[in-house]
Amino acid sequence: MPLISTSFRALVIGSSGTIGAAFVELLENHPACTEVVGIHRSSTSPIDYQDLSTIEEASKTLTGEPPFQLIINTIGILHSADWMPEKKLDDLNAQQLQTLLQVNAIGPGLTMRYFSKLLDPAGAVMATLSAKVGSIEDNRLGGWYSYRASKAALNMLIKTTAIELARTKPNIALIALHPGTVNSRLSKPFKGQQIGRPPLDAAQDMLNVLLSLGREDSGTFISYSGERLPW
Ligand SMILES: NC(=O)c1ccc[n+]([C@@H]2O[C@H](COP(=O)([O-])OP(=O)(O)OC[C@H]3O[C@@H](n4cnc5c(N)ncnc54)[C@H](OP(=O)(O)O)[C@@H]3O)[C@@H](O)[C@H]2O)c1
Repeated sequence: MPLISTSFRALVIGSSGTIGAAFVELLENHPACTEVVGIHRSSTSPIDYQDLSTIEEASKTLTGEPPFQLIINTIGILHSADWMPEKKLDDLNAQQLQTLLQVNAIGPGLTMRYFSKLLDPAGAVMATLSAKVGSIEDNRLGGWYSYRASKAALNMLIKTTAIELARTKPNIALIALHPGTVNSRLSKPFKGQQIGRPPLDAAQDMLNVLLSLGREDSGTFISYSGERLPW
């Protein structure tokens, strides 16, 4: 049975991003969504993973409001002005690995810690965008050391949080969500425009999956198509 009821309130974290903005647009036009709140690192209540104290601060500004039935965290990076994903072991460097772990794993982990308290214990879903390349079992090509490692670490944080919450709040599901290849800022250097799907199409598929999730789906790694992915 779906955890999200016929009427729901939603929060999109990273709403300035390509996929985040697409989710906000869809939710604003969704008949069952009573309100959608978007936050990002330049919003009134900023959430900036380079300053981890902003995570708890941002969550506090939403405390006291009605609970959310849906929270989607879309924050993530793959490359920066200074570096691109590593092609080989000799490209591995501490600065890139540290930055990706901070933005793709530590930030989202602490976001689960503070923002899961804003979820409706009667029925809610919190999804964090991961990536299939973070699957250890599915890693056949190698390369992209730091991004893969950061998403694998994120996946473990999600799984572990889901196990704990299942004991105390069994009607809340936490999942790792793979969006597929989407035409976005993140995918642009990797032919994202040619091989990526339009963000609204991807977000619509993911929203359909999120609205269908039940208790039994908590602690899983799910693709935009609804397929379960190996960890
Ligand atoms: N696009 C794909 O093909 C693809 C495939 C697999 C997984 N994903 C995952 O999907 C998610 C969304 O990606 P996207 O394609 O929408 O990328 P995007 O357009 O580059 O959006 C990334 C978002 O992350 C935010 N962000 C980056 N660094 C941050 C920081 N230090 N603190 C707070 N926010 C920060 C950005 O904020 P600003 O707007 O302020 O920069 C933006 O909101 C990511 O987690 C990514 O790993 C994407």
